[in-house]
Amino acid sequence: MARKLEAPTLLDLGGPVPGCRVLDLGCGKGVGSRILREDFQAARVDSLDLDPSMVQGGRTRARAAVVGDACALPIADESYDAVFALQVLHHIEDWQSALKEIRRVLRPGGRLYGSETLVGLLQHPILGAWMDHPEENRFTERDLLDGLESAAFRLGKTRRVGKWFLWFVADRPATRISDSRC
Ligand SMILES: C[S@@+](CC[C@H](N)C(=O)[O-])C[C@H]1O[C@@H](n2cnc3c(N)ncnc32)[C@H](O)[C@@H]1O
Repeated sequence: MARKLEAPTLLDLGGPVPGCRVLDLGCGKGVGSRILREDFQAARVDSLDLDPSMVQGGRTRARAAVVGDACALPIADESYDAVFALQVLHHIEDWQSALKEIRRVLRPGGRLYGSETLVGLLQHPILGAWMDHPEENRFTERDLLDGLESAAFRLGKTRRVGKWFLWFVADRPATRISDSRC
């Protein structure tokens, strides 16, 4: 996560998560995990990535990093107050399955924070050639918002940069009033 762009944008859209247990999904080298503790005030950050070399390389920043697949998370139901998926879904061909898994591990009332690269950039005739991503099942803003709705999220605020980037927050609806806070 970029401290000067993504963190302020997502803080503005979804607010901090003081006292919360959060998952940094697709944590990479763990830069975002540290920002979640420092800027978002998360009480506990667990970090997960498909790539073992990322998890090992990021251990110093992501304290509790594990290897795992976003489409089959090795995590119990309703484990987290918030999940951060930062520049991850566009790396996953079956991103709709990942959304269902994220919803499953969020507690009712929990929040997904996302930042994504849209098909408009991934398939850009010049810039897209430099990037290495799955080519099937890419998404526009509309596709992603529809996917969130299909996975039974309630969409919150969003911010978009042209057809290239989208930031969003989306909640797993609370079932009881007492579910709505960390
Ligand atoms: C562009 S990096 C983003 C890293 C970090 N979130 C950040 O913002 O700096 C995308 C990460 O997603 C991970 N990833 C790709 N597919 C995944 C999957 N199915 N499950 C978990 N992580 C995945 C990659 O290994 C990579 O570390």
